[in-house]
Amino acid sequence: MSKFWSDVVRNLTPYVPGEQPKVENLVKLNTNENPYGPGSQVIRALQAEAAETLRLYPDPNSEQLKAKIAEYFSQKHFDLKPNQVFVGNGSDEVLAHTFQAFFKHDRPLLFPDISYSFYPVYCGLYGIEFETIALNSHFEIDVNDYDRPNGGVIFPNPNAPTGVPLPLVEIEKLLKFNTESVVVIDEAYVDFGTESAVKLINAYPNLLVTHSLSKARSLAGLRVGYALGNPDLIEALIRVKDSFNSYPIDRFAEAGAIASFEDEAYFKETTAKVIATRAALIKDLLALDFEVLPSGANFIFAKHKTRNGAELTQQLRDKSIIIRHFKKPARIAPYLRITIGTDTQSTQLIAALNEILNR
Ligand SMILES: Cc1ncc(COP(=O)(O)O)c(C=O)c1O
Repeated sequence: MSKFWSDVVRNLTPYVPGEQPKVENLVKLNTNENPYGPGSQVIRALQAEAAETLRLYPDPNSEQLKAKIAEYFSQKHFDLKPNQVFVGNGSDEVLAHTFQAFFKHDRPLLFPDISYSFYPVYCGLYGIEFETIALNSHFEIDVNDYDRPNGGVIFPNPNAPTGVPLPLVEIEKLLKFNTESVVVIDEAYVDFGTESAVKLINAYPNLLVTHSLSKARSLAGLRVGYALGNPDLIEALIRVKDSFNSYPIDRFAEAGAIASFEDEAYFKETTAKVIATRAALIKDLLALDFEVLPSGANFIFAKHKTRNGAELTQQLRDKSIIIRHFKKPARIAPYLRITIGTDTQSTQLIAALNEILNR
């Protein structure tokens, strides 16, 4: 600890991202990346951006990308205007601005006890009071538990790291009784079979939905995320962004993201493949005496009926397969969070588990 640090920095507990190992030939199932690379249209768009124009700043407002996202959802009959779209450097940055813009109040922010572990970190950074609400015994969010005074509500849907989806009717129920604070639904994994809350945006002015291009759009390395909501909420985010970094979306990110929204066929094809691999993997894990929570994400949360979660994680690692394990809270310690990879990676995982479990 340096004497030069401010009190704020001294008291931070930073988020620990999943490992990005430097070793090759690992079966990497630990950070929920897509096993399929971006489509060829995206690659071509990125190559075209490697040009003399890089000497110029990008558009600080990412107008073309916002227009493309609004058009994309409008084509799906979710009628959105560009002024209902905010874009940022990964949905993590969008979430950071969201916490600063909406959640610092006298009343606490509410989120589940088992959820995205970045949320308490943002609270620490911005001095936001929070209360965690326990998931029920099935690891589900019960929205009735959120019917209490609050300075905001946030949770991922599907939840992370459980993968468990919450039906849209439940979110609408929450929005009906919770009208005085902002409700953020973090839909980083929504495209893998969870119902999106985007269709509620025009009915509920306090609803903000965040999305990521890192998962279903295979662009974790490009760092693009966005939020959709009422223009008034979007304006607040723009105010924070323009007080922080005017150019969060660089020229590559804007071009690549636009190209991704223009290639719906590739997006559909790869998400369908991940969903099919997930179903097959769950079946194989059940046969090996695992219990698997229902998943609407590109990962699953599974525990073995008799084996210890930390030990299994290490044993898989010894066989060059990396997954994610969370020690806390205690009730998730038996679980393994496994990213859905290719069918070949699933086969490798199941073969390794067969050996570890002496099948
Ligand atoms: C629930 C949830 N939200 C948001 C993110 C951030 O994604 P990104 O910043 O890559 O868009 C993640 C990443 O793992 C996540 O798990």
